[in-house]
Amino acid sequence: SRVLPLAEKKVVVTAGPTLERIDPVRYISNFSSGKMGFAMAEAAVEMGAKTVLISGPVSLEPPKGAELIRVESAEEMLQEVVNQYADADYVVKSAAVADYRPAVVHNQKMKKKQGASSIELERTTDILKTLGEQKTSQCLIGFAAETTDAISYGKGKLESKNLDWIIVNDVTDPGGGFGSDTNVVTLLSRSGRERRFPAMEKKKLAKQLLETIVQEGQKH
Ligand code: PMT
Repeated sequence: SRVLPLAEKKVVVTAGPTLERIDPVRYISNFSSGKMGFAMAEAAVEMGAKTVLISGPVSLEPPKGAELIRVESAEEMLQEVVNQYADADYVVKSAAVADYRPAVVHNQKMKKKQGASSIELERTTDILKTLGEQKTSQCLIGFAAETTDAISYGKGKLESKNLDWIIVNDVTDPGGGFGSDTNVVTLLSRSGRERRFPAMEKKKLAKQLLETIVQEGQKH
């Protein structure tokens, strides 16, 4: 019988948006559907990995064979990812994590007042940067969702977050991005490799991305 490429390996995938509460009825979030992250987790399962999928609020069926951990906020996602990190072989950060959250979460529904209003925001923890700082032997794979200068911003994130790979997603491309079933990305490695994938179904793309990453890793 054929040995699967990720047999005996643990892959942790994050997916979806995070949701940051304002009051009991309101929140800040983004348009991530979770499709890209769920596809990455499905690819990991198919390649034989023990797969842990940590997801923000989405309405998707989890891939069979993956352990699903549901979270709401960036802070909760951070805790769960850090819990899974020590013995992980690959961490794939497809989630669209909120960069800001309301500085105050109101216990009661905020009342309408006369005139304009504003909400003070504070930074969330950068989960991927935290993982990059604590990295031992894990292969760390980030995503970059960009609307301009995608490749150069992607390279910046690859370096500054101490990643091994980054999957750069120009989310203005009509062939992909938030919510769609297809995506168009460029895979960049820390060692300077660059490969553009044409528009294709997220499920197919996820498989090709993970296979490329695993194969390249075995060459070193
Ligand atoms: O979910 P879909 O609808 O299928 O859409 C897929 C996608 C567009 C969300 C996905 O392909 C994608 O690009 N995900 C990354 C979105 C994102 O938050 O990118 P970013 O450039 O803002 O962040 C860069 C990296 O840092 C990401 O890996 C992100 O998970 C991570 N990050 C960001 C902020 C933060 N506080 N903590 C993080 O870990």
